[in-house]
Amino acid sequence: MFRTAALLSFSLLAMVYGQQAGTQTPETHPQLTSQKCTTSGGCETQSTTVVLDSNWRWVHTTTGYTNCYTGNTWDATICPDPVTCAENCALDGADYGTTYGITSSGDSLTLAFVTGSNVGSRVYLMSDESTYQMFNLKNQEFAFDVDMSNLPCGLNGALYLVQMDSDGGMAKYSTNAAGAKFGTGYCDSQCPQDIKFINGEANVLGWAGSSSDPNAGTGQYGTCCTEMDIWEANNDAAAFTPHPCSVDGQTRCSGTDCGAGDDRYDGVCDADGCDFNSFRMGNTTFLGKGMTVDTSSKFTVVTQFITADNTSTGALSEIRRIYVQNGNVIQNSVSNIPNIDPVNSITDDFCTQQKTEFGDQDYFATKGGIAAVGDALEAGMVLALSIWDDHAASMMWLDSDYPTDKAATSPGVARGTCSATSGVPATVESASASASVTFSNIKFGDLGSTFSATGSGTTTGGGGAAPVGGTVAEWGQCGGTGYTGATTCATGFTCHVINACE
Ligand SMILES: *[C@@H]1O[C@H](CO)[C@@H](O)[C@H](O)[C@H]1NC(C)=O
Ligand SMILES: *[C@@H]1O[C@H](CO)[C@@H](O)[C@H](O)[C@H]1NC(C)=O
Repeated sequence: MFRTAALLSFSLLAMVYGQQAGTQTPETHPQLTSQKCTTSGGCETQSTTVVLDSNWRWVHTTTGYTNCYTGNTWDATICPDPVTCAENCALDGADYGTTYGITSSGDSLTLAFVTGSNVGSRVYLMSDESTYQMFNLKNQEFAFDVDMSNLPCGLNGALYLVQMDSDGGMAKYSTNAAGAKFGTGYCDSQCPQDIKFINGEANVLGWAGSSSDPNAGTGQYGTCCTEMDIWEANNDAAAFTPHPCSVDGQTRCSGTDCGAGDDRYDGVCDADGCDFNSFRMGNTTFLGKGMTVDTSSKFTVVTQFITADNTSTGALSEIRRIYVQNGNVIQNSVSNIPNIDPVNSITDDFCTQQKTEFGDQDYFATKGGIAAVGDALEAGMVLALSIWDDHAASMMWLDSDYPTDKAATSPGVARGTCSATSGVPATVESASASASVTFSNIKFGDLGSTFSATGSGTTTGGGGAAPVGGTVAEWGQCGGTGYTGATTCATGFTCHVINACE
């Protein structure tokens, strides 16, 4: 996330609840199968599920039905301090479909935007009932299908990795009795301070309700960790963005370390990240409705994590992006900005050039750059899927002109075609209440093992991605109008014209 996600909490519902964590509404995780793939053995289905983040859940007394938290306020009697509050309060099970608009079938998950009084949601992939699925993606790739045809300006259907603990922090913090089963232990590179329980304690100290969000507030503590945004998008714009932190794993922050407000470039995490958004990188016709990657229907997004020595222990050196739609492999757009090399992947060099050209502070490099994100990918990260709107910046950093005090013609400001007045939460929550995003067909494993070209249309590259300079790997782009990359194929392969409009 570029800005803190606005978390929407549960409001009072006429249901019968009570007692210890998870005992009133049974916590039943919706199924979302995924596939683990190898080059030699193909793909194998895993019986994974998803769990709703704890912040969305009803928090009530362990002894009865009394709310510990109502609207955006903690009950001062039940919650006089962080430890007592954690002892007195329980997180309950979730009614996924009815209350939160979260539905799944087989390998497909749909997150609805507004359901009753609930706005947005965030879930994590689980390998079993009390453990998050851990992803170690160095020298590996991750693929999924997304349908954003019903996800307009101002919304964000996100799929990303964060360095949470696999048990939600239960082993580290004995006062966390709920664990991953109830979606605890969240952290990201914004060091969000709107999280109600951090490190097994309630975030009641200094808690202040949000001025724009009746269900959210912020406390004294934040929760930080390295984040890899594989996908933040709506049907107008998309970005992929690594965000390194100087802390290893989920870490509670307070004060300057959280990087809030004026401390943005003094915190433990790189809140800006180094983003690749095709529109922002100078190709305004690449991704959107009716464009090269057509967001009016489903497509596959492949992300490859390349290391310097092509092993799973080498330093992460490059993050590549490939799309597949209607069976056609589409290489990511190439940067078309003066003073930035014409590349289509993220490397430290790309980030340095981009920050310089766009006049952005290079806190990405300060926090360790791409290799630091690789450290988290080696340690293991948790997969988060969410739908959200943005109380801080109306999602303009993704799909409009941002920052708003710079000319739209200034390099790096234009990010999508959404209007300057789009994305205001009060507006999108009523006008786009029925929006949704569907993620499906999650696959991960060896480079090149999760996808193939099956279509007959225009193919603009594929497989092992398209390096600029040097030789081109199998399925890589090796020529074409406007193409500036390498034209020599790797040994054993020749360059073919697949299709052209003449
Ligand atoms: C945008 O990307 C498409 C597909 O790769 C390409 O054909 C087109 O030339 C690009 N446009 C610019 C301005 O780079
Ligand atoms: C890694 O693999 C790429 C593509 O297959 C190759 O061009 C490169 O030389 C390899 N690097 C090392 C250090 O082996």
